[in-house]
Parts: sequence; C-alpha cells; structure tokens
Amino acid sequence: MSSASTLEKGSIESNVVWHHHIVDKRLRARLKSQKPCLIWFTGLSAAGKSTVAGLVEKKLTEDIKHTYLLDGDNVRYNLCKDLGFSEDDRVENIRRIGEVSKLFVDCGIITLCAFISPFRNDRRMVRNLFESYEFIEVFVDTSLEECERRDPKGMYKKARAGKIKEFTGIDSPYERPEKPEIHLNGDEHTPDELANQVIRYLQQNNYILNH
Ligand code: ADX
Repeated sequence: MSSASTLEKGSIESNVVWHHHIVDKRLRARLKSQKPCLIWFTGLSAAGKSTVAGLVEKKLTEDIKHTYLLDGDNVRYNLCKDLGFSEDDRVENIRRIGEVSKLFVDCGIITLCAFISPFRNDRRMVRNLFESYEFIEVFVDTSLEECERRDPKGMYKKARAGKIKEFTGIDSPYERPEKPEIHLNGDEHTPDELANQVIRYLQQNNYILNH
C-alpha cells in the first residue's frame, strides 16, 4: 500500500478529485464588486516593472479595488528562496507564481505580478492557467542600454564584471513577448505615464469603471 510520502510523482493526481466549494470565484468577485484578473509585468531587470506595477496598484486602491502585488525580488525572499537563476529554477519560479496568482484571482483579487519571466513558454504556461480575459500581459519594454544606465542595484555592473552569472540580458536570454495585451515604452515615458496607460486599458476593456 502506498502512503502519500511513497507515491510516485504524477500518481497523486489520479487519486485526488477536485472539490467544488459552494463559495466560488464569482461570488467572491461579486462581493468585492470587481473583475478579478492577473496583470503580468515582464521585462528586463530595472525595466520598471515593480515601480509601474506599484503605481497601478496604488491607483486601483484609490478606486477602492482589492489588489495584491507579487514581486520577483520579494517572492525570492520567501516562497522561492530555494531557487536560483538557472533555466530550471526560473521555470519553477514562474510556475509557483502562476499557481499562487491563480489562488489570488480565485479570491476575487486584482493581482499584479512583476517578474522578469524571460521565457515565452513559461509566460504561456501561466496564461493557460486562466480564462483568456483574466490574463493581461504587460511588456515593460525598456532597452538594455537604459536598464544598464539605471542599474539601481549595481547588478549589471557586477554581471559585466563576471561576478553574477546567468544575468538576464547579459549572459542569459530574454525572449520578448510577441503579442502582449499592453506594450509600454519604458525608455520614453515616466512610470506614472506608463501606469496610466495600464489603467486606461483596464477602463477601456471594462475591468474597472471609467469615472
Ligand atoms: S525570473 O527570471 O525568475 O523571472 P525574478 O523576477 O524572479 O527573475 O527576479 C529578478 C531579480 O532578481 C532581479 O530584479 C535582480 O534583482 C535579481 N537577480 C539576481 N540574480 C539575477 C540574475 N542572474 N538574473 C536576473 N536577475 C537576478
């Protein structure tokens, strides 16, 4: 007889049946008077993902929306502290965040994620966890030159000096989104202007009211 600890990976699924609870996503969303969704910010380190996501969250909160922001650096302090920056670890990082985000959206929350998420496949994997209207990919398109110029944590400098390995944009790839819902030009606009572009998209697509 197999116990949970001796079950092979993959065999657990066949013995587990999804339980549909009475209180569901729709009811939780209705109580909050909002349309839950996942706003996924991707781009190079120092592109402005967390800054813009933070401003979008602030503007949504001022509009009495219930939100939660998951941020690459912060999540790597706790949920993903066992992960590094190899390809496998980045895949697992994004997989976990995708699943956590799904729980937040299920709670009826407007969820914001700011992760480099350099691989198209992983972003697609997260997208596929959601209904099509629930996933909004935001490409914070700031050039490598501009990110290196900003270099707020001095990491590009270290990466160029070979002190940090597998740094995105230097010796690890970043795959640009092909069809993001929102494409932000991080070289030419202030974070506030970029956040307003996201808010306008949410208004125009009826995620939030325009008032
Ligand atoms: S991701 O590639 O797995 O999506 P994530 O967004 O969680 O990355 O974390 C990126 C942050 O980790 C960067 O903003 C930077 O502060 C830090 N970091 C440390 N080492 C690396 C590295 N090799 N490549 C990219 N970011 C790194």
